[in-house]
Amino acid sequence: MATLLVIQSSLSTTGQARQLAQQFANTWQTQHPDGQVIVRDLAANPLPHLSDSDIAAFFSPSESLDDVAMARRQESDDLIAELQAADAVVIGVPMYNFGVPSTLKAYFDRIARAGVTFKYTEQGPVGLIADKPVYLLAARGGQYVGTAADSQTPFLTTFLNFIGLRSLHYVYAEGLNMGAELREAALRQASETIDRLARS
Ligand SMILES: Cc1cc2nc3c(=O)[nH]c(=O)nc-3n(C[C@H](O)[C@H](O)[C@H](O)COP(=O)(O)O)c2cc1C
Repeated sequence: MATLLVIQSSLSTTGQARQLAQQFANTWQTQHPDGQVIVRDLAANPLPHLSDSDIAAFFSPSESLDDVAMARRQESDDLIAELQAADAVVIGVPMYNFGVPSTLKAYFDRIARAGVTFKYTEQGPVGLIADKPVYLLAARGGQYVGTAADSQTPFLTTFLNFIGLRSLHYVYAEGLNMGAELREAALRQASETIDRLARS
């Protein structure tokens, strides 16, 4: 059974990136009637910022961990297993203050685990997550693609490549706060692209 993991990070329940990711999931489901859509909503269920004790929990032997530390490591193990098991991944990514939502960064901090999702070799780092299509649906008030102000795309590409995810597909809905005409055109174009990608 095919599995689609949908990672939502829009603050609002009506967020544009959230709606685009939802559209992808709905269309994908029509193509995979027996498929399973798993939603990880990082706004509804945010993960805490990484702490020193969390990192210790990731690296210490189980017998030295207390219940809280064990729970933190189990949570990270579960997030990684969920990502590893998915056949495709959709990430709804709004731009907030020139970066990805802090909830998405907190998620990344909990799935980047040496020896589990990446390892260093003499040839450099190797990602340990099996490659699969990742659809990044980006919503932005302004227009930044191809400029130095697009801090999201290089970061997302570097991070996801690092853990092994190389088949990245970006869809941008930009200029959403630059007037109704631009907004409607951007959303229509993003929606058409998503429809095509979700059916492929
Ligand atoms: C807290 C906050 C910060 C924002 N910062 C930026 C920004 O740095 N650049 C930008 O282009 N748009 C910015 N915007 C506009 C959002 O990118 C835009 O509203 C987009 O639709 C957000 O996605 P969402 O609707 O899924 O939340 C910001 C919006 C909010 C609420």
